[in-house]
Amino acid sequence: MIKLTEINKIYRTNEIETVALENVNLEVEKGEFLSIMGPSGCGKSTLLNIIGLLDAPTSGIIEIGGTRTDGMKDKQLAAFRNKKLGFVFQSFHLINSLNVLDNVELPLLYRKVSAKERRHLAEEVLAKVGLSHRMRHMPTQLSGGQCQRVAIARAIIGNPEIILADEPTGNLDSKMGAEVMELLHQLNKEDGRTIVMVTHNEEQAKQTSRTVRFFDGRQVE
Ligand SMILES: Nc1ncnc2c1ncn2[C@@H]1O[C@H](COP(=O)(O)OP(=O)(O)O)[C@@H](O)[C@H]1O
Ligand SMILES: [Mg+2]
Repeated sequence: MIKLTEINKIYRTNEIETVALENVNLEVEKGEFLSIMGPSGCGKSTLLNIIGLLDAPTSGIIEIGGTRTDGMKDKQLAAFRNKKLGFVFQSFHLINSLNVLDNVELPLLYRKVSAKERRHLAEEVLAKVGLSHRMRHMPTQLSGGQCQRVAIARAIIGNPEIILADEPTGNLDSKMGAEVMELLHQLNKEDGRTIVMVTHNEEQAKQTSRTVRFFDGRQVE
């Protein structure tokens, strides 16, 4: 489902070079729930952003669902990303001036989906994450755990095969974190979505994932 071959990423700011990823190879099967663990600064977010086509590697090959992404133009890349991938971040990135429904519908604004269909799909995914009773609330009226569930609803509204989650429970207490992990587990087990999660919570990783790998910027073990 995901294949990275000899990925290198070097950040260049002014005169300073930071090697964030060095010759990283990774394969993720369809339906896998992979947790990638490693210390702060080891390149986890860089790796996830590259898998998610949000950032380009300095060199190396990315294949998603058998399609190589090198050579794709920006517009093509954006369309591909929009169709295949859903993102969940540590900070939920909700828009505070929009209610829950409108936040969840956002990814569909760039597609040819009627307003009525958008609303229907948003209601469906919000039911899935257990927030049917909060649809007209504003993000500021919700708990952190609820905000992350809204973000997950937004990530799955386009029905992506792959979900990429970067420290999805990093801003949550353990109870809310557990709810979010349970939800990700369901999306993997019941809906068969492939999930790649980055975390430094080893316990959470072991409880929910099928595979846990350790990463130090060089190799995924
Ligand atoms: N946009 C950037 N510009 C320059 N250096 C960066 C940038 N993003 C990350 N880095 C550096 O790359 C390394 C890996 O960062 P990151 O992928 O965020 O690690 P992690 O998510 O594991 O904490 C760090 O040394 C970080 O300082
Ligand atoms: Mg990070």
